[in-house]
Amino acid sequence: MAGDASLRLKRLLLGTRGGRLALMAPRALMAMRAARVAPRLGQVLAWSVRSREIANFTYETTRESQLVLAAVVAEIANRPPSEIVGYINELAADRELAEHVADVARAPESRWSVDPGFKPGRRLAFYLLARALKPRRVVEAGVDKGLGALLVSRALTLNRAEGHAGDYLGIELDPSKPIPLYERWPDRVGQIIRGSSTDILRKQAAPIDLFIHDTVPEAGHMTEQLATVRLLMAPVGVIASTWTTPELINHALQHGLKLLTHQEETMDHWFPGDRVAFIYGHGGAASDSDKCVTSLDTHV
Ligand SMILES: C[S@@+](CC[C@H](N)C(=O)[O-])C[C@H]1O[C@@H](n2cnc3c(N)ncnc32)[C@H](O)[C@@H]1O
Repeated sequence: MAGDASLRLKRLLLGTRGGRLALMAPRALMAMRAARVAPRLGQVLAWSVRSREIANFTYETTRESQLVLAAVVAEIANRPPSEIVGYINELAADRELAEHVADVARAPESRWSVDPGFKPGRRLAFYLLARALKPRRVVEAGVDKGLGALLVSRALTLNRAEGHAGDYLGIELDPSKPIPLYERWPDRVGQIIRGSSTDILRKQAAPIDLFIHDTVPEAGHMTEQLATVRLLMAPVGVIASTWTTPELINHALQHGLKLLTHQEETMDHWFPGDRVAFIYGHGGAASDSDKCVTSLDTHV
């Protein structure tokens, strides 16, 4: 009997205009719960008060997100996943880097712009690639406060201690922006040049083993930058981009390159995370089946 009544009610709700109207409020509540609107709002409010950032956010990612990233990097670098997980743990245990970020955040010139927590976010991908690929030459376009530059420096220093030499070039458009996280790191590797990344890349000689695209996702800039850097990439070189845009996807498709992406899952932060893209296979593929673009999406 009760079952019949509930069935009739369900038919009424899903079969009439009145039912559709009556379902609007419960539907909105269900969606708000699933989309975690209330917790997100709490995170927005807490962050607005606590953070000093207005762009290029720092945030932590979940362990699951990091492990999926490790699997993607292992595939690209052709290394065992356990090795990449070792690099994740190595960075998480790096007290010197964490203390350096806290020191910079305390310094008078950056105390109102740099958050004190050591939260690599998407730069974890840059660190893992720098450790796994043992690149001889890393170029990062878009440096900002230098968190990526700091992590790449650390990776290259550790690589050197293991017998793999590598150098770093950062390119930053803003002629006067302070880059304290990199500039104040005593063991920094390489240098930073100020100017437009495409202009400076045109003057570079090949090969680049790891190129980090972290400038802006504007379509014209991405197309020009990718076209410029393609001619410089080592056959085993990897491009890591903060953004998986249509221009980046077209670039990989047009040139028969491999493409993998990783959607970050952030922790205790309103920021949804970046969809980081990796382009590789610049030396061509070994077999016909490898020649197509591999777009293996790795959502967590
Ligand atoms: C997203 S931030 C870089 C973040 C940095 N990689 C990190 O690890 O935190 C973007 C930076 O790119 C710089 N930028 C924008 N357009 C550029 C261009 N065409 N060439 C070089 N740098 C550029 C901006 O001034 C800004 O500092």
